Amino acid sequence: MDGNGRWAKQRGLPRTAGHTAGEENLAAVVRSAVRLGIDHLTVFGFSTENWVRPRQEVRHILGLHKKLFGRVAELNELNVRVRWIGRPFDDPAARTPRYVQRAIAKAIRDTEANTGMTLTVAFDYGSRTEIAHAVETLRRDGREITVEAIDSALYQPDLPPVDVLVRTSGETRVSNFLLWQAHGAPISFASAAWPDYSSDDLRAAVELARNSPNHR
Ligand code: IPE
Ligand code: MG
Repeated sequence: MDGNGRWAKQRGLPRTAGHTAGEENLAAVVRSAVRLGIDHLTVFGFSTENWVRPRQEVRHILGLHKKLFGRVAELNELNVRVRWIGRPFDDPAARTPRYVQRAIAKAIRDTEANTGMTLTVAFDYGSRTEIAHAVETLRRDGREITVEAIDSALYQPDLPPVDVLVRTSGETRVSNFLLWQAHGAPISFASAAWPDYSSDDLRAAVELARNSPNHR
């Protein structure tokens, strides 16, 4: 969800205000996604690379994830099930603080009976790290390294392949997000910074997915 910093800068606000607006817009986009009948929405909340940002900004973003995972009443009302992808908490390189771990675990538990959309939040996530972890897991178990085996060893093997990838804020580069899962997927480019990403933008992404021949 790119562009929170730029959104804030344009308004003469601190970057943290952009992240706050971004978290609020995610709640709105989740509502739109449910209305559009989307089965899976996966969002990149915080990457394995984001830890190098200034301490105060990281702390603010962590607090926003606690808030996000705390939106259980809202998610239950929408029949949305929450999941998480990221570096396992027991990985020596993992840095997710306990209070965020607890918020993630609680949100998953308190929404697991919901049968509508699945909202997967990527936190402390990096696609290359995920693929390396999958291969390492297979190697340790003495398994053959095949495409199907790697599929089955990803953080969330149940996550379906990506139908459309969204890039916000005019970004045209590929990020370290679902690289394995998104092969062949069309990319929906939105000029809006994430806090301004709208239900119309989301509808355009869904249309793109519908009209794209399947290259998988
Ligand atoms: C996305 O907004 C939020 C996170 C990466 C956590 P950015 O912080 O990347 O915003 P820009 O790219 O500086 O505008
Ligand atoms: Mg950015």
